Amino acid sequence: MSTDQNYAPNDLESLWMPFTANRQFKKNPKMLVEAEGMHYITHDNRRILDGTSGLWCVNAGHRRQPIIDAVKKQVEKLDYAPGFQIGHPTSFEFASRLTSMIEGFDHVFFTNSGSEAVDTALKIALAYQRSIGQGTRTRLIGRERGYHGVGFGGISVGGIVGNRKQFGTLLTGVDHISHTHNLEQNAFSRGQPEWGAHLADDLEKIVALHDASTIAAVIVEPMAGSTGVLIPPKGYLKRLRDICTKHGILLIFDEVITGFGRLGASFASEYFGVKPDLFTTAKGITNATVPMGAVFARDGIYDAFMDAPDNTIELFHGYTYSGHPLACAAGLATLDIYRDEGLFERAAELAPYFEDAVHSLSDVDHVIDIRNLGMVTGIELEGIPDKPTARAMDAFNKCYDKGLLVRTTGDIIAMSPPLIVEKEQIDFMIDTVRDTLKTVH
Ligand SMILES: Cc1ncc(COP(=O)(O)O)c(C=O)c1O
Repeated sequence: MSTDQNYAPNDLESLWMPFTANRQFKKNPKMLVEAEGMHYITHDNRRILDGTSGLWCVNAGHRRQPIIDAVKKQVEKLDYAPGFQIGHPTSFEFASRLTSMIEGFDHVFFTNSGSEAVDTALKIALAYQRSIGQGTRTRLIGRERGYHGVGFGGISVGGIVGNRKQFGTLLTGVDHISHTHNLEQNAFSRGQPEWGAHLADDLEKIVALHDASTIAAVIVEPMAGSTGVLIPPKGYLKRLRDICTKHGILLIFDEVITGFGRLGASFASEYFGVKPDLFTTAKGITNATVPMGAVFARDGIYDAFMDAPDNTIELFHGYTYSGHPLACAAGLATLDIYRDEGLFERAAELAPYFEDAVHSLSDVDHVIDIRNLGMVTGIELEGIPDKPTARAMDAFNKCYDKGLLVRTTGDIIAMSPPLIVEKEQIDFMIDTVRDTLKTVH
């Protein structure tokens, strides 16, 4: 029998790390042991500027006292309550705070992550179509290069081959529209590229192939993050909206990254002035202090489920931790910080400075494109022939050694600092990336 006396405290072997080159990491571990504001502290006591808000999620900066206090207070009062056929007040309060943030979306459904939010949104879309007598609409349409988390629904509508190829045949009845990335037309665009609205018409081709009566929903990230920051061309999202409306197809925005201020507005739908039918959120919803996600449903969607006979469960879906008290408490405190510190407005004000700063890297070696929107940038590097990702990984490691956390995907460096970032810290980020790119392979 093993007891906890037998464990090896410094053993790295037992943990199977997510989305990580485990063997490489374990030879040379990078450990974060503390965080505060804009910084992490490493196990060897170095300060690292968080250029990525963790994984695009710590929008208000680290270890915010009001969130800590709210979570402590909640755990001392109600640690957990089931959410099926019974409730607790904090989840209702948080839901109404969330729906009050945006016009036209009168309900939210709680999940624990972005992946769960995506699967929930896809399921709501299918069930909604069925509930309005459109039960033949069973197809789901995603987009090439889309990232929608790692559930089977999410990887099926997702468009990143590495996330799909190990996992069999995925969901059936899924198709993809083309992505919007085009270096020839749009390299070094500032903000939204001029070229590419017509790419939304790809959905018409899919409708012509399958017929609208078989399609339930289309899901896209309004700004694609994890695939390397792909900014929607001007007019593209509106055109996608119009095609969906014309054909009775639900439009789902995956706002797991863009929600809660990243673009300088509460949500991307507000930023772009295009309303989806459903949208997913997670990450910044609790400033990442406690895991949570939420699906927002536009007015009318919930109501369509409500004419089932009395005492019937209207949607057979939910998680043990849907609306967990600690997550809701963290979320309420997070929304207070966003409001009281005006962080979304701050992001909008800083965005032009950030844009100028990142585009100052355009003549640096290896850089073949720079993209930006709000407080996000993607810096695309020319890959080393036959060694895709190696150059960006080298940059990631060197930036880390110089005290800056960036993210890489393929040969793209992404940065998305917490919205409390100061201009001097943006300068530090840019100088560090510039110096690093001088020395990468
Ligand atoms: C757009 C989008 N959707 C879904 C997810 C998945 O979220 P999670 O990792 O919380 O499951 C992510 C994560 O990065 C994301 O960027």
